[in-house]
Amino acid sequence: MIHPIDRHRAIERFEAIPHLALGHYPTPLEKLPRFKAALGCSQRLYIKREDLAGAGLGGNKVRKLEYIFSEVLRDGADTVITCGGLRSNHCRVTAMLAAKLGLTCVLVMNEPAHPYAATPASYAINEWVGARIVRVADRRERAPTMERIAGELRAAGQKPAIIPLGASTPVGALGQVSAMQELAGQLGELRFDFDAVFFSTSSGGTQAGLLAGKALFLDPETQLYGVSADDPSLSIQETVGGILREIGERLRLPFDERIQVDDRQVGGGYGVETEAGREALQLLAHSEGILLDPVYTAKAMAGMMAAIRSGALAAEARVLFWHTGGQMALFYT
Ligand SMILES: Cc1ncc(COP(=O)(O)O)c(C=O)c1O
Repeated sequence: MIHPIDRHRAIERFEAIPHLALGHYPTPLEKLPRFKAALGCSQRLYIKREDLAGAGLGGNKVRKLEYIFSEVLRDGADTVITCGGLRSNHCRVTAMLAAKLGLTCVLVMNEPAHPYAATPASYAINEWVGARIVRVADRRERAPTMERIAGELRAAGQKPAIIPLGASTPVGALGQVSAMQELAGQLGELRFDFDAVFFSTSSGGTQAGLLAGKALFLDPETQLYGVSADDPSLSIQETVGGILREIGERLRLPFDERIQVDDRQVGGGYGVETEAGREALQLLAHSEGILLDPVYTAKAMAGMMAAIRSGALAAEARVLFWHTGGQMALFYT
């Protein structure tokens, strides 16, 4: 149990951390009555529309980058370098926000396991907003290539800053702490708490930030469930644990949160669609007119549906789906 005074001081430290305002807030918190009926469940279902945070259907990346870009500008960098797959949401949102802030952006992007039949819209947008794209054959080449490019730019007199994969650093994760603070304000008005929150997890920043935010702002009984888009539970749990520890050091509050990761929806791996994911995408689209993406959020929703159908959640539970965005993956040019 966290002592209320320690929590209060940690919140003050969190609120003093500088960040930019780059998104559109508060993101809506909505009921899903028709989805509930379509599922035929008794639980009360809600959705937090973080997909609407701004910057090109930026989703969870916008809040992370509000904290990261604040440090980039503070340090006087003129160029950001980051990495991801060809359809990466993180790369696209970084490139769009870099354009908005007048910074040069270099993207190191690895080829997909199976080539796309057409150009992903997300990739084309990077070109439209003026990012320089360096393609590498394998994801293992991303980090050394970013270092090499940073060295070349420094030698040419520029000031580059590397943003690690997914902006999943302790600083980036603070964006999700702010999202939880926003949710707590919405729940204060509605006068209830959630029993369970489901979301997509991969590079760990989102889950670490949400857990820290939950410890600071939500009912301690609320359970957070990350549904893996790619990696095994153990490896994501380790990454999340590391980021959470560092956030705790910054806020001087040791977090003791359960890191729950479900890797049963991964199927064939990163970006490979699954039948359960397709069902989740279609059911939410048909019943509520809300789109998921096949890479992250459809698998996360499939995990939530599986938990509901298996009877793992109490009949009256209030369950929140945290929509992290990514729908640009549905579009090609
Ligand atoms: C749409 C979407 N949802 C979820 C995630 C997972 O977030 P994280 O990498 O912080 O675990 C990502 C990024 O990887 C994403 O682009």
